[in-house]
Amino acid sequence: MAKREAVLSVIVDAWGGMHPGAWRDPNAPADPAMDLERIKGMVQTAERGKFHCFFLADSLAQAMEKDPAVLALTSNAARYEPFTLLSALAMVTDRIGLALTASTTYSEPFNIARMFASLDHLSGGRAAWNVVTSTGEAAPNFNNHVLEREERYERASEFYDVVSGLWDSLEDDAFRRDKDSGLFFEPGKLHSLNHVGKYFSVEGPLNISRPPQGHPVIAQAGSSTSGLAFAVRVAELLFTYGLELDAAKELYAKVKGMAADEGRNPDDVKVLPSLGIVVGSTQAEADAKLARIDALADPRIGIERLKGLIDYDLTPHDLDGPVPDVPETESWSKTMQDYYLGMAREQNLTVRELALVAMRFDAVAMSADRVADHIEEHVTGNAADGFNVSFADANGSLEIFVDEVVPKLQARGLFHKDYRGATLRENLGLSRPQNRFV
Ligand SMILES: Cc1cc2nc3c(=O)[nH]c(=O)nc-3n(C[C@H](O)[C@H](O)[C@H](O)COP(=O)(O)O)c2cc1C
Repeated sequence: MAKREAVLSVIVDAWGGMHPGAWRDPNAPADPAMDLERIKGMVQTAERGKFHCFFLADSLAQAMEKDPAVLALTSNAARYEPFTLLSALAMVTDRIGLALTASTTYSEPFNIARMFASLDHLSGGRAAWNVVTSTGEAAPNFNNHVLEREERYERASEFYDVVSGLWDSLEDDAFRRDKDSGLFFEPGKLHSLNHVGKYFSVEGPLNISRPPQGHPVIAQAGSSTSGLAFAVRVAELLFTYGLELDAAKELYAKVKGMAADEGRNPDDVKVLPSLGIVVGSTQAEADAKLARIDALADPRIGIERLKGLIDYDLTPHDLDGPVPDVPETESWSKTMQDYYLGMAREQNLTVRELALVAMRFDAVAMSADRVADHIEEHVTGNAADGFNVSFADANGSLEIFVDEVVPKLQARGLFHKDYRGATLRENLGLSRPQNRFV
């Protein structure tokens, strides 16, 4: 039997590499986030490697580093708005999927439906929406509007229903453009949604033709109970954090089971854990790259990040002393707090070492062979359908992945040799949704 092929996506959060020391590497570009030529080169390299998707994570706030003096040590303060950037990138690529994060808490469904429909047309059917509910960090920029998690997901669910309903406003064959009769489209094939719900009242119809994919591909990364329940209802790509093999298998089985309970085909929900890496042709090369950027990252950045992750400021504590006992958080970040403090206790980490862990964001240095083995182990072991790959450095890891990891995966029958279709849906083996009005 043919092996299952991995779905691979590049996730870009920080353009200078996920690791805050990466931009200072002598071989890294000076302006990683705003240099359009460099970004074009990145997406074209990912397309050369046949990645299914190029995914821009996003938040509606400045950056994780709140203190300007610390933010100033990172390359994260300036970045493009993702819809406009992906519209530009659609013009310099042909086959790779173009995914972006848009928030259901701080947007209106009519705007989001319209922008994704536009991007899907501009790209010839390659758009994907990572539906996020956003945590509190964006609130100060949006009239201090804060929703508790349950409400965030309740709103997200209704938001999705409105957006997907608006995409169906015009039937696929509505347009006649008949110069003789003067009929441009058939009025019976234009539908108003007339949605009235708890959060939204949206009449429609949407003023753009149905997206080439019917509906752009939906991605979601909820991990709480309500987040996962929403994800298995709507997501076609389900992003998770990176996990050890056994934990990943457990989550994979749980998600597939939940999808089946929703009446969905479990194969239509692709589970993609995160894989943060620095890649070298050899392990020694990868280790040396990671060590170099570790040494270039100021521990103040890690401590600033930990403020959000463990809900506690370690600044007054000795950098080379032990991680102190920290009061249990009441905030949304309980899982993160348990994760980081648990690790500090188990491994007896100093404050400096824990700051480094936070700056690495779980990125691991791996040779091209090890990356291919990791992907094979998880995909053949029913622990993942593929990976959302992020690169910790901006110094050649993407290129080594494309030139060395991808051919290894292809030779093992674990990755497609070329794009199979024109649209992202076709390349993911997902069917085109029916129009609900037909
Ligand atoms: C791979 C991945 C990418 C994510 N990208 C974003 C993002 O771009 N913007 C965002 O606000 N949240 C992002 N998130 C956070 C999730 O949307 C979600 O809030 C988080 O996993 C916690 O789940 P919960 O909302 O169910 O508590 C991402 C999570 C993962 C695992």
